[in-house]
Amino acid sequence: MSQTPVPALPLSVVILAAGQGKRMKSDLPKVLQPIAGKPMLGHVLDAALALQPAVTCVVYGHGGEAVRSAFPGGRLHWALQAPQLGTGHALLQALPQLPDPGVTLVLYGDVPLITVPTLKALLSPAYTGQVAWLTQRVADPAGLGRILRNQQGQVTAIVEDKDATPEQRRIDEINTGFLACPTALLARWLPRLGNQNAQGEYYLTDILAMAVADGVRVETTSTPHPWEVAGVNDKAQLAALERIHQRNQAQRLMDQGVTLIDPARIDIRGTLECGRDVVIDVNCVFEGHVRLDAGARIGPHCVLRDATVGAGTDIFAFTHVESTTIGAEARIGPYARFRPGSELADGVHIGNFVEVKNSQIGAGSKANHLSYIGDTTVGRQANIGAGTIVCNYDGANKHRTVIGDRVHIGSDVQLVAPVSVGDGADIAAGTTVWKDVPPGGLTLNAKTQLHKPDWKRPQKKK
Ligand code: UD1
Ligand code: CA
Repeated sequence: MSQTPVPALPLSVVILAAGQGKRMKSDLPKVLQPIAGKPMLGHVLDAALALQPAVTCVVYGHGGEAVRSAFPGGRLHWALQAPQLGTGHALLQALPQLPDPGVTLVLYGDVPLITVPTLKALLSPAYTGQVAWLTQRVADPAGLGRILRNQQGQVTAIVEDKDATPEQRRIDEINTGFLACPTALLARWLPRLGNQNAQGEYYLTDILAMAVADGVRVETTSTPHPWEVAGVNDKAQLAALERIHQRNQAQRLMDQGVTLIDPARIDIRGTLECGRDVVIDVNCVFEGHVRLDAGARIGPHCVLRDATVGAGTDIFAFTHVESTTIGAEARIGPYARFRPGSELADGVHIGNFVEVKNSQIGAGSKANHLSYIGDTTVGRQANIGAGTIVCNYDGANKHRTVIGDRVHIGSDVQLVAPVSVGDGADIAAGTTVWKDVPPGGLTLNAKTQLHKPDWKRPQKKK
């Protein structure tokens, strides 16, 4: 890999994001439509900020305030483009905020999968005073700007599809829109753009011919990955790039040694960090930041958000985990649900239809069937029987329950919080615990079992 020289000139990145996106047929502005749960503009900003620019300026228009407020904090510059008179006019709106001397890179809020290496390769000629343009050979160039070259193969101009002759329309090298050049040249050319064209717009693409006329060298580069320069205009294109992005993430995981039972059936909407020999079955969704330690196995159809799963732990099918830490060698699910704020120590077993919320569960403790455990601290080696419910809510406030080490709770027990159960206590099936239970011994509610042998079942009235 070649070393990128430290650029002497400050870099400005301008992201054009003023277009309306009518074809999305959505109230959400186009650049806020998500890929992997993050607005497209967020993906573009990630690529931009990785280049450590001096200025990052977003040109916004339609849905402007929604776009601005989706990216709060002072690190971005904003330029309003109203009305929207074309890509050249859009860049002109940002110009006053760009340091000169400097180099400007133009990105697009609706072209979300551009990568940092491609941008670095594009940028380098701009630091030596040239215009750098990213072009692409495509199978179907319809609708896109075509790159015109002379007999020597040097670029001479870009012609928009609507302005092109039938012969020019046969050219399969298209303008991706991405370009970089010295900011001073933009300041010279952008104010001189005209709009005498088929669309009556100020075309940014016309600066290429101005560069040629001024004797400025134009360097073209391209990428081997057409998806990097693919734009999104409708929901079908959004879905197509979502799949490509997910496939790329799946490939990275497999490169790291993760076993994906089907790389086409995983969705990562955030970051997924995996140790060695992690296995992920089909149709799992990972959101926020999830860490799976070595040897963790995630069954099919699980949803994990902001979660940590310890080494060697098995998560069985259809389990939901949110803002929860699970220790090593645990067995979780199928059909378990963790709501925010839970911490499970090593070797915990949580089985089917058990909901755990804001609770700590000590090493080796088990709740295998049909329980609710909320706002509860459970000690080590405790066993919580089927159907046990912690009644943590009195209708106004939440209260805590504390269950000691080695406690055995029978089936169908209610624990009415606030309440505590001492170490080693046994609680009989069907008990309603509303007072603190001392350590050891058996706690039960006095109940009698009656039998009425002369009982007659009610009969349906004729
Ligand atoms: C543009 C290029 C075309 C290229 C194609 C690639 C021009 C004149 N044409 O065409 O050569 O092949 O992109 O997709 O540049 N935008 C603004 N303000 C405006 C107009 C556009 O911010 O006034 C933004 C849009 O939000 C969008 C981008 O610029 O992100 C491109 O605009 P779009 O209308 O899609 O350009 P095309 O006509 O497709
Ligand atoms: Ca477009």
